[in-house]
Amino acid sequence: MDSLIAAAMRAREHACAPYSGFRVGAALEDADGRVWTGCNVENATYGLTVCAERVALLKALSEGVREFRRLAIVTKGAAPAPPCGACRQLLWEYAGDLEIVLSDGVGAIQILRLSDLLPRPFDASYLRR
Ligand code: THU
Repeated sequence: MDSLIAAAMRAREHACAPYSGFRVGAALEDADGRVWTGCNVENATYGLTVCAERVALLKALSEGVREFRRLAIVTKGAAPAPPCGACRQLLWEYAGDLEIVLSDGVGAIQILRLSDLLPRPFDASYLRR
């Protein structure tokens, strides 16, 4: 198995998901080959929940990492789940057209690019006058 998927699977074990029961693990590989992991962290207010992908990305950014290669996401459900819209937007900003590997942790794998999931993104270029 892809070691990045294995890392996301291990991260998923730490998910704090008592409300949804939907556990997510993410592993983000940077340009140097280092791996930054994350799991979803829920809260009783629900709205303060942070997705696994964002935890992984923010861990890397906060350590100064700015170049990324791949992101693996592991969920267990009817089909491997793609990142939510908010995560797509943030990943686009900092990781660009990332390769995204979706896994159901058993055998089903899908490989996509972020540009497939987020066509015509809003980005900083629109802020210029
Ligand atoms: N979740 C993620 O961690 N990543 C996503 O991209 C989709 C949703 C989490 C948030 C919440 O804890 C649970 O999955 C159900 O939405």
